Amino acid sequence: MAVKVIGTGSALPEKIVTNDDLAMIMDTSDEWIKERTGISKRRLSTGETVADLATAACERALEKAGKTAEEVELLIVATCTPEQLLPCVACQIQDRIAAKNAVAFDLNAACGGFLFALNTAYAYMSAGFYKTAVVVGAEVLSKIMDWEDRSTCVLFGDGAGAVVLEKREGIDGILGFVQQSDGAKGHVLSCGSRAVNNPYCKQEPLYPYVIMDGREVFQFAVRQVPACINQVLENLDMTIEDVDLFLLHQANARIIETIARRYKLPIDKFPMNISEYGNMSSACIPVLMDQLNREGELKEGMKLVLSGFGAGLTFGACTMIW
Ligand code: COA
Repeated sequence: MAVKVIGTGSALPEKIVTNDDLAMIMDTSDEWIKERTGISKRRLSTGETVADLATAACERALEKAGKTAEEVELLIVATCTPEQLLPCVACQIQDRIAAKNAVAFDLNAACGGFLFALNTAYAYMSAGFYKTAVVVGAEVLSKIMDWEDRSTCVLFGDGAGAVVLEKREGIDGILGFVQQSDGAKGHVLSCGSRAVNNPYCKQEPLYPYVIMDGREVFQFAVRQVPACINQVLENLDMTIEDVDLFLLHQANARIIETIARRYKLPIDKFPMNISEYGNMSSACIPVLMDQLNREGELKEGMKLVLSGFGAGLTFGACTMIW
């Protein structure tokens, strides 16, 4: 009995914003952004909401999997940028696609969110609660960027990706997970929401945009991602050479290149789409997975490692047989 990804889907806003476009509205350049991050362009919402993008990604994944919305028993959305606090994005999707038999809820582990949501679904399914699930990573990060802060706003993009999971006899699928959190380092990547404001207490409003110590985050990523990958492989008696492809969180091409160099592996084992889309937080891994799936790059039996990291701090890795 295994839990397997049987379908993928993604959805992106239509608006493409290049580095040169940004250079027209702030003091930056294509050269600086490309050299430091590998990003050339990103998609930004011109009105598409997290629920819009997540719903479209979900529908495409279900279509690819050959499943109907009614067959979905569990629907988890990883997001840190919902437009509405209530109801959660997963319940909005449930309503829009009429997934009336699904238990639906959101999970926020920032850029680590998709992996955390995938692990949550896997745990529920392994424990026998559900047989069919959809896991979505969806963000409209552009609304939590300070567009006066060139050191953060150029890095991020908007988008959504989804996978359909099925638990079945006689298949290969997810092999294992490693998940970790380090709340003591939460300050290196943060964003405020609402302060306490009631008849008995009025706190100062919180700063509602992303604040990041880029160098700290960079160092954390190049240390923790390999540590998680090593751990998940060791748990399964696998080695780095057993892995066909590494689908890593697309935060910075230099982070991914550093990790590939440390492992002395060719960079083409680390597919990237950051140049096109920037960092879409929880949407990065499922969008990349959908792209590779639709391009026929994921062949049955391939061994994949997924690894993500982000605010929290949260980080983790997963191995699966495609
Ligand atoms: N355009 C032009 N110049 C910029 C700029 C921009 N968009 N943003 C910052 N700069 C300037 C800075 O002001 C600084 O100028 P100064 O030296 O005159 O003070 C200079 O570029 C260097 O900035 P620095 O912060 O040292 O650059 P860096 O090499 O550390 O790269 C990041 C910055 C953010 C690209 C890099 O640290 C990074 O990618 N970190 C990881 C972030 C991440 O992955 N976050 C998401 C995690 S999920």
